[in-house]
Amino acid sequence: MTGACLAKYNHKIICVDINREKVDMINNQKSPIYEKNLEEILKEYKENIKATTNYEEAIKNSEITFICVGTPSNNDGSINLDYIKESAIEIAKQIKKLDRWHIVVVKSTVIPGTSEKFVKPLLEKYSGKKAGIDFGLAMNPEFLREGVAVDDFLHPDRIVIGALDEKSNEILKKIYKDFSKPIIETNLSEAEMIKYASNCFLATKISFINEIGTICKLIGIDTYKVADGMGYDKRICRAFLNSGIGWGGSCFPKDLLALKNYAEKNNIKPYIIENIIKRNDVQPLILIDLLKKHIPDIKNKTIGILGLSFKPNTDDIRYSRSIPIVKKLIKEGAKIIAYDPQAIDNFRKLYPDQITYCNDSDEVLKSDAILIITEWDEFKKLDYTGKIVIDGRRIKEAEKAKIYEGACW
Ligand code: UDX
Repeated sequence: MTGACLAKYNHKIICVDINREKVDMINNQKSPIYEKNLEEILKEYKENIKATTNYEEAIKNSEITFICVGTPSNNDGSINLDYIKESAIEIAKQIKKLDRWHIVVVKSTVIPGTSEKFVKPLLEKYSGKKAGIDFGLAMNPEFLREGVAVDDFLHPDRIVIGALDEKSNEILKKIYKDFSKPIIETNLSEAEMIKYASNCFLATKISFINEIGTICKLIGIDTYKVADGMGYDKRICRAFLNSGIGWGGSCFPKDLLALKNYAEKNNIKPYIIENIIKRNDVQPLILIDLLKKHIPDIKNKTIGILGLSFKPNTDDIRYSRSIPIVKKLIKEGAKIIAYDPQAIDNFRKLYPDQITYCNDSDEVLKSDAILIITEWDEFKKLDYTGKIVIDGRRIKEAEKAKIYEGACW
């Protein structure tokens, strides 16, 4: 995403990956991920962007290297820095050969202190040079949402530049000058924490409204009206107050776990983060409770699932709320039929046999009850009349069902 979007701003980009298949795809202007408008940029700006598996070729011919590798979770929830380490060592070996200034920018989400205490020593050790004197070091987090990442990159709310040295700070500011957005200049660790704190706060808003939502449901109140009423307060703001079955995806779950783990390791009790996660863990199972209100014994009943991805407009199923729901349904002996416009192939890798995957959303309607997990636009056009629908994502049209239950409304 960084490569493609900066290519649009006329920078010459060389993407490096150890995966030959991804490199070939980029060189053939094919996007290696499902992301709106990305392929169009690769095509339109193909003169500005190429990919290689060769670090030397990339670093010899460039002035800045952005580290954009993944930082997944270890089994205990802590951050896994293996890819950061591997790439930092390879970059350092190339910096060693350069007789000019080069800047390394950490873009991956990393626990505060990582650039300073982990990346910098690796770069210095393997290059034999000094950070801030022989080469530059900065941290520049991204705040992109999957599915609209191109748009988020090109129209950010703010740009955060954490720099070790003034020269890197100035050069990065020039890279982003045409974005005409506020630039927040910080040190390395502050930039890292801004990213974590932002993700945690957004997840907090969702878990909070979900908790309020379960209380609202009990009283018979529409949580969406409550959220609208709260959202007009500028100090609160309406965004990320859509209640439902909780947050999933590639960022919130792993980032919250990593920060919680880091705090615990350092003897700080992360009371708030812990409970944001707890609320999110119970939230999807509310749908099963609501289902059982109407079909107490779901054994051998056919349950239709609409949506498998963690949110619409992506094929990503990482930490999708569909997973705990499917797990529970299987445990209770239900027959599952499911449809998703993009995520079936990924879900099939997790559940190859226990689910019947449908070719379109209409097929899912031929079930004893329907669970709405993801708010894909096409689910708004279905005819739900006469059905039992348990809605996790507030698809208004589904209210026409014979029996309709919303998760928090
Ligand atoms: C998130 C952050 O928004 C982004 O800034 C960061 O860079 C990466 O993580 P993303 O994971 O792509 O982006 O999705 P997002 O749109 O934030 O949604 C995350 C999850 O929260 C989804 O499961 C979504 O369904 C859920 N959500 C979001 C709600 O349940 N209610 C809301 O009001 C908003």
